[in-house]
Amino acid sequence: MAMENFKHFLVVLSVAAAAGLVSIIFVLIWVLHFREGLAWDGGPAEFNWHPVLMVIGFIFLQGTAIIVYRIPWTWHRSKLMMKFIHAGLNLLAFILAVISMVAVFDFHNAAKIPNMYSLHSWVGLAAVILYGLQLVLGVGMYLMPFTPASWRAAFMPLHVYGGLFLFTSVIAVALMGITEKLIFSLSNPKYKDSPPEAIFVNVLGLLLVVFGALILWIATRKSWKRPSEQILHTLHTDGGVESDVPNEETCGDVRKRSCK
Ligand code: HEM
Ligand code: HEM
Repeated sequence: MAMENFKHFLVVLSVAAAAGLVSIIFVLIWVLHFREGLAWDGGPAEFNWHPVLMVIGFIFLQGTAIIVYRIPWTWHRSKLMMKFIHAGLNLLAFILAVISMVAVFDFHNAAKIPNMYSLHSWVGLAAVILYGLQLVLGVGMYLMPFTPASWRAAFMPLHVYGGLFLFTSVIAVALMGITEKLIFSLSNPKYKDSPPEAIFVNVLGLLLVVFGALILWIATRKSWKRPSEQILHTLHTDGGVESDVPNEETCGDVRKRSCK
């Protein structure tokens, strides 16, 4: 099925993918070249897993999970399969976020640095907990066959809003974490003297903002939404498309294009 403004979609998707992948390369260069590398020894190299896994998991994988339904090459695949991919990527993102938290708590405890004192850690922990809740509710609502279609439809606007809100919050939390880390660790020359590491990591922050902005753009275009199963089914009259999901799942959504 053809997508409206396909070229526009392709450009936004490519720039988002590039920004996301370059962010991962940047965070790796930061910890491996400018900082102490990666290890699991209670020291600063263990802390370094924290930004690496947060950028790979909580930002890049979560962003990818959010837009998988929008990729037109997957529209001939069954909705159930796309749900497994969406849920699987979100689960992986959650697991990496938890490991990343263990790394920073471990490092703090070994170095006798207090836990949970910063705004970064408060908003960050709240985001991880709410993300876990979103995951459990997502599975309960959209993967359990016995959940009534009316519940699925009623919950969808909250699921979409919650997902986009969490993703945005996580980008903001990363920016706070990056700023803190630069202020803590740069001395002689200090952060305010703009050494190469500071400039490099500021660019990483900008890349994360660009990635976040483009994912949010894709996820909020009505015309790029995956068509409802009913429309896909009508188009594929040979019955090649599995219709495993009651149509109400998206018709309850405020974005009703696919239900017309
Ligand atoms: C600490 C969450 C990304 C730097 C923490 C803590 C949490 C957290 C809950 C508290 C750990 C403790 O008290 O022992 C998150 C989340 C992120 C994220 C959810 C998702 C994006 C980052 C990034 C950096 C970073 C990208 C960049 C280096 C720090 C630093 C600390 C820390 C320096 C120790 C100081 C403090 O507790 O604020 N993070 N973080 N964080 N994080 Fe992050
Ligand atoms: C849609 C986020 C977990 C099922 C969405 C959307 C977002 C989102 C932002 C809107 C996407 C769009 O408009 O194309 C999240 C986050 C999750 C999560 C952050 C984890 C923390 C789950 C789980 C399931 C699920 C575990 C279970 C299968 C769905 C379904 C849609 C959806 C069925 C509607 C897709 C459509 O009709 O096009 N999710 N989700 N989500 N999500 Fe999730």
